[in-house]
Amino acid sequence: MANCKICLLPGDGIGPEIIAEGCKVLDAVGAKRGMTFAYTEALIGGCAIDACGTALPQETLDAANVSDAVLLAAVGGPKWDTTDPDAPRPEQGLLGIRKALGLYTNLRPVQIFSALADASTLKPEIVDGVDMMIVRELTGGLYFGKRERFYNEEGAGTNGAAGQRAYDTLEYREYEIERIARQAFEAARKRRNKVTSVDKANVLETSRMWREIVHRVHDEEYPEAELEDLLVDNAAMQLINRPADFDVVMTENMFGDILSDEAAQITGSLGMLASASLGDGVALYEPSHGSAPDIAGRGVANPLAQILSVEMMLRYSFNRGDAADDIRRAVTAVLDEGWRTGDIKDADTPADHVVGTAKMGDLVVERL
Ligand code: IPM
Ligand code: MG
Repeated sequence: MANCKICLLPGDGIGPEIIAEGCKVLDAVGAKRGMTFAYTEALIGGCAIDACGTALPQETLDAANVSDAVLLAAVGGPKWDTTDPDAPRPEQGLLGIRKALGLYTNLRPVQIFSALADASTLKPEIVDGVDMMIVRELTGGLYFGKRERFYNEEGAGTNGAAGQRAYDTLEYREYEIERIARQAFEAARKRRNKVTSVDKANVLETSRMWREIVHRVHDEEYPEAELEDLLVDNAAMQLINRPADFDVVMTENMFGDILSDEAAQITGSLGMLASASLGDGVALYEPSHGSAPDIAGRGVANPLAQILSVEMMLRYSFNRGDAADDIRRAVTAVLDEGWRTGDIKDADTPADHVVGTAKMGDLVVERL
């Protein structure tokens, strides 16, 4: 693909600052590898609420749909925080675009850059060798089930007095589990071929069905893969107990949300983790971290997770492992040379090696 159309969704907070660095690196690696990129920019999240009254305007979806890939930075901020179920929320933009583009597979790689091995709060011998891929189902379950809130309902309060009641629904269909299981086994095949399927089959009916279907897909289509089941509470424990044992961790939407934050903390540097959301059409790439409103606009945010999401884009949407490897090598070199943004510096980092967002992007470009 000579000219790739990229839809940029900078979003809120540090989003615009870090996405600029992602594009800088993408253009640089493109120049080296004979690819060019054409960008269109659209609104999502809080900025879209301010401009259009909705977190996901139709123009944004249209722009995403005609692109070859979507690069998102982050959404949200205290300005739009609310518990009012009728008020728009920035996260609706993210959930809406996942659903609308059919992005049912969320890949979150958890890897340690050796230069940052000390950043983890876990002991070095526990963290050594951690290299896992979380495969999170992204368009089903509690996030998209029927939900409702009732106010002043008879019988919902203390002693049957009037009060509030609310519910969310966790529902999965067979095909949704089959397809995410296939994605996990496919991912495992390119790795150590081990899949840990996380559920709560001792309690939830959806989990019992999940387990049955995952095993059927395994036995019929991927018998050579190693498959283990883990209950989600135990998984939360094992992830910090023996993180290096995990290869592919596959789970439903909500469990995946929680466990992926926990897994990110194993590395100690959330600012380094990228993610890819894939479906059958255009895919979306974004950092695993949020919009960091506390440091927005100051030019100090770490752009590396955004830059590494560009790496994933080259790998998964454009099948350009060569260009993707270039970015990974460049980021590794910059870190090995001791360059750090504020979030990943430590007591040993010399003051002249603590850099801002744009300088970090420039360093990666230089090492390409
Ligand atoms: C994530 C985020 C989102 C999620 C929020 C912002 C809606 O936490 O991508 O993990 O819960 O999926
Ligand atoms: Mg999350």
